[in-house]
Amino acid sequence: MKNTVLTFREAKGREKLVMITAYDFSTAKIMDQAGVNAMLVGDSLGNVMLGHENTLSVTIGDMLRHCAAVARAAEKALVICDMPFASYRASRQQALRNGMRLLSEGMAQAVKLEGGADFRPVVRALTRASVPVMGHLGMTPQSVHAMGGFRLQGRTLAQAQKILDDARVLEEAGAFALVLECVPAALAARVTRELSIPVIGIGAGPRCDGQVLVWQDMVGITDKPAKFVKIFGQVGNAMSAAFAAYADEVRRGLFPGPDCSYDAPDGMDFEALR
Ligand code: KIV
Repeated sequence: MKNTVLTFREAKGREKLVMITAYDFSTAKIMDQAGVNAMLVGDSLGNVMLGHENTLSVTIGDMLRHCAAVARAAEKALVICDMPFASYRASRQQALRNGMRLLSEGMAQAVKLEGGADFRPVVRALTRASVPVMGHLGMTPQSVHAMGGFRLQGRTLAQAQKILDDARVLEEAGAFALVLECVPAALAARVTRELSIPVIGIGAGPRCDGQVLVWQDMVGITDKPAKFVKIFGQVGNAMSAAFAAYADEVRRGLFPGPDCSYDAPDGMDFEALR
């Protein structure tokens, strides 16, 4: 069965939700077949796919292209697409226009945006226009300059209170779920208990309703993953070994061998060519 925003709502308190980032058709197909509940076309594609230092230069065009590729692979997983930095902060109209494009052209089933109570009108407008919204609080990478770097959020009681208050506002504004990134586990547990929508954690401890990871992190492809990342398979090492073996065989004339080459049609002698 295809996962939908209803699957997410109904899972609250019953089963853990599994979300993973996805950016391309081939990888998304493997993830979909592995049975994840949702694939997030994160604007982290700026880092892991495009080699930028942060997510700020990711455009709506980037997201549309990658989201459509993932959506074409998603038979069962819910496809959620990040709204990039410069696509929803200028006005409600801008957010509506771009949110709708992510559903119509990008074929997403929902969008995710970063920010708390200040974005209440935007979340309301999108949900009223039938664009389901996932919120994102805690460490919000699009605010890297405002936060003074990528660091644990909710370190003081005042900061923690703001995160809880923002979470309540997003739920009230119509968000169907919330990502909580890089906050103390006990704070994430408190927010998860408080909300009736699912809270998906990343660097937020085990007591959230689900988890999300950037896929390149959890298969050992990224250079210096954060403390909260667990490597579930050393795919990076396997890829390095495969690329090196390929280079070696090409250089030694071993690849392609007879198994990977085409024979001439019967009786044809290409030496006869002038
Ligand atoms: O862009 C992204 O990949 C994200 C996840 C880390 C939650 O927002």
